[in-house]
Amino acid sequence: MSNETITQTVSERYARAAATGEQMCCPSGYNFEDLRTFIPEEVLKISYGCGTPAGLETVRAGEIVLDIGSGGGIDCFEASRRVGPTGRVIGIDMTDEMLAIARRNAPLVAANLGHRSSNVEFRKSIAEAMPVENGSIDLIISNCVINLAPDKLKVFREMYRVLRPGGRFTISDIVSDQRVPNYLLHDTEKWGNCLSGALQVADYLSCAVQAGFLGVHQLKFIPWQVIDGIHFSRRRSSPTAFGLPPCEVPSAGSWTNSDRPTIAGSRRRSARARPRF
Ligand SMILES: C[S@@+](CC[C@H](N)C(=O)[O-])C[C@H]1O[C@@H](n2cnc3c(N)ncnc32)[C@H](O)[C@@H]1O
Repeated sequence: MSNETITQTVSERYARAAATGEQMCCPSGYNFEDLRTFIPEEVLKISYGCGTPAGLETVRAGEIVLDIGSGGGIDCFEASRRVGPTGRVIGIDMTDEMLAIARRNAPLVAANLGHRSSNVEFRKSIAEAMPVENGSIDLIISNCVINLAPDKLKVFREMYRVLRPGGRFTISDIVSDQRVPNYLLHDTEKWGNCLSGALQVADYLSCAVQAGFLGVHQLKFIPWQVIDGIHFSRRRSSPTAFGLPPCEVPSAGSWTNSDRPTIAGSRRRSARARPRF
């Protein structure tokens, strides 16, 4: 499948999900009772993340936060609460139906939070070419999206470009413990379900490092689904990302399961500090 076909198929899948409100993907780990106090049900019911990147203490008051693949806006709205009225949040998504839901709920969330106007803006774009100024973002979050992008290295390079020096990212995503085999790479339904596009964690971290990020590490690791043999386990680790193999999208292998890590990293502060690979 070409990159364009994958992007189009994924977007159609999420347009359908936005229209039906069907359940997809994984438990995110958010406290929905708490989120319900300020986020409308229309948004919460299309929460398709696999972690809580905006629910982490990493979001600080007054920051400019970018959410890649913002969907119905759940993480943007949680980030909006955390950055407060002096901060700003930009959500990016390629699917019109998702953007429509997010945009119509932004003023409602602002009112519920007691903000004079919404500090969240939603822009239509693919993650591989974001309409965001160079060096303008303090923190990037993303929840179960980069696995859906056919060119992950391009996404990480864009993330590096838009972050200010010293800026950071915290993302939740799906990865696999083995390379995804060809038969799954051509399965459009499983692309949409965040499985076919999953990279092995080492390849995933390697993309971030190749894009220039420092201190890339895993914060959390929650097993999700197993194909060809069922097995669940839970672990936490913080490996260093340096010295990993070059980033490449897998084309063959025997893939058995996928996991949901939360990964963090930061952009170097000075041009000289950049490591060479
Ligand atoms: C699994 S959903 C997650 C949505 C949201 N982050 C959440 O937690 O509910 C994936 C979202 O990313 C968007 N998306 C997928 N691939 C994308 C890409 N390459 N560029 C921009 N948006 C993308 C889809 O339109 C969809 O809204």
